[in-house]
Amino acid sequence: MNPTIETQLNHRTIRAFKPEPVDLQPILDVAMRTPSSLGLQQASIINVTRQDLKDKLAEIGNQPYAADAPVYLLFIVDTWRNDQLTEADGAANPRNFIAGFTDACLMAQNVCVAAESLGLGVNYYGNVHNDAQAIIDLLHLPPLTYPVVGMGIGYPDQEPQLKPRLPKQIRVMENGYVEADPATLKQYDEEMQTYYDLRNPNQPVKSFSTQVGGHYSQPLDKRDSTIEGARQQGFKL
Ligand SMILES: Cc1cc2nc3c(=O)[nH]c(=O)nc-3n(C[C@H](O)[C@H](O)[C@H](O)COP(=O)(O)O)c2cc1C
Repeated sequence: MNPTIETQLNHRTIRAFKPEPVDLQPILDVAMRTPSSLGLQQASIINVTRQDLKDKLAEIGNQPYAADAPVYLLFIVDTWRNDQLTEADGAANPRNFIAGFTDACLMAQNVCVAAESLGLGVNYYGNVHNDAQAIIDLLHLPPLTYPVVGMGIGYPDQEPQLKPRLPKQIRVMENGYVEADPATLKQYDEEMQTYYDLRNPNQPVKSFSTQVGGHYSQPLDKRDSTIEGARQQGFKL
């Protein structure tokens, strides 16, 4: 055990922040130091500092409390910048979109760990995919860019419980795929129901299987149009 691992094992999503300012510089330095596929750095960060834009992002994300996060970072695929450096026309190729998406995710999680190590809390916003096109328009994202995930950062104003995770023996497999033991899954279902979710404090938390069933039975909507949206941004997907 060391302080880094302690921080990581203590991770919980923070959705209410104190209105204190945050020094972003060390966190952004860590973001820049994140590994990237082929070293091509095909991801960027939009630091949204204007309150009117934050309000709009919270509205698009259908998560009003996102507007109150002292920091709002949007991580994006960005092959546009490199496209300007060359006559070659590969910036739109699928491999570069995927690399940029991966780079953005890694940068985001590195930022998460750095922020948490400083006593800050973090809320990921996958809700940017509620309407990625609206975000592209709002923040004037050029072609060959695409929103990946947003993140609110600030000093925590709540103390959520640690959310239970699937046990390691199910998610870590040795030398090949191993089917999950139903009894272990059942036990996890029960454990999940002991979690107290600050988002819906008056509602009992559903078992994990029920949550999965709920999500997997949702009809297709704008959140499923990433490939189509990325095509509109010029990617050859
Ligand atoms: C890619 C990604 C997108 C997420 N999107 C949202 C979101 O839009 N809104 C939100 O409140 N939490 C969001 N979360 C947070 C997850 O709900 C949370 O990490 C998960 O329930 C586990 O809880 P914990 O982080 O407290 O352990 C997201 C997390 C990830 C990794």
